[in-house]
Amino acid sequence: LTTRVGIVGGGPAGLMLSHLLAKAGVDSIVVEKRDHETIRTTHRAGILEHGSVSMLVDSGVSDRVLREGHRHEGIDLRFGGVSHRLDFTDLVGEAVWLYPQNEVFVDLAAARERDGGQVFWSVTDTAVLDQTTDTPKILFTDAQGQAREIHCDILVGADGSQGVCKWSIPQDQRVDNFVEYPFAWFGILCEAPPSADELIYCNSEHGFALISQRDANIQRMYFQCDPNEDVNAWSEEAIWAELQKRLDGPDGFQLKQGRIFDKTVLRFRSYVCEPLRYGNMFLAGDAGHTVPPTGAKGLNLALADVRVLFEGIDSYYSTGSRDLLDAYSDRALQRIWKAQNFSYWMTSMLHHRADATPFERQRQLGELAGVVASRHGSAYLAEAYTGWPTA
Ligand code: DHB
Repeated sequence: LTTRVGIVGGGPAGLMLSHLLAKAGVDSIVVEKRDHETIRTTHRAGILEHGSVSMLVDSGVSDRVLREGHRHEGIDLRFGGVSHRLDFTDLVGEAVWLYPQNEVFVDLAAARERDGGQVFWSVTDTAVLDQTTDTPKILFTDAQGQAREIHCDILVGADGSQGVCKWSIPQDQRVDNFVEYPFAWFGILCEAPPSADELIYCNSEHGFALISQRDANIQRMYFQCDPNEDVNAWSEEAIWAELQKRLDGPDGFQLKQGRIFDKTVLRFRSYVCEPLRYGNMFLAGDAGHTVPPTGAKGLNLALADVRVLFEGIDSYYSTGSRDLLDAYSDRALQRIWKAQNFSYWMTSMLHHRADATPFERQRQLGELAGVVASRHGSAYLAEAYTGWPTA
């Protein structure tokens, strides 16, 4: 098989890139190791920046997000048992959309199918080679068991944090920047009405909790837990008691409970590979960097990478100049490091560390009080949460 752009990874980043390239008349092939159903049913975050929404709508993927998603104009920051609303539209004139990443994937896969895009699902034995030549290659075995080879001009690694592309870069050609956290998230999906109109990010002496939603009947909630926590050790009653304990306050806030039908422990770390390039291979999305989930930047950052990478590839094929493509890593990293800082900040401001001194605990509450009391502090959070303008 021969194509201009070979893309490893059929998640949102790979599919969105393939979609934008097709619209610009640049052919591409996507290979993905999972099947459609597995990706569709893997629960990820649920918040889209306004820029991510425009990308889906304006590029013609789908406007379903506008019809079925929910526009959120703020969040609650809750600490010391008291909620403080941050009004994004008042602070920065922007909002976000609650629209689960699974649905973004469904829309993108449907758009590729509709437009005749070439996507190989359920492939095995994926390998990349000749990245520093003019003909990088993707080797894989297709779903029918046939060995295949894609020859391309440009190879894109959009294969997620566990993907093969990043690890194919020799160790002396990349820097792995990372931070680990001594906690994880216990995530649940439940059948219940929403407990609040907007998301609640809650700092409590018992640890962090996040109250999110899916729709009128299904809710998504998380609470900080030990990375080695066993979901089966938690009964429904224990989960509700833990969540409620973290939300308790003088306002008497009560979660609306219901049957829990999904329980997962999500581990995370902050990671950035520099540069996001090796020869003619470029990394986009989680393949190149991951953030802790607090603030829901992961998918949004992946789509922002794709926007910048698309400009570089499109400019190469339409003008013959490689300048924008060569600038991809530096350009994408500007937003990535801002988002790394934001995600790290939100995580450290809202989580409880077992080894925190009384000073550290009070300092954290002082930090939160400073943010909500300051229009400037709140506006920084709102600007980062809703998404920085594209450069
Ligand atoms: C969700 C996840 C997040 O990490 C976040 O910051 C907000 C919402 C969610 O799954 O709804």
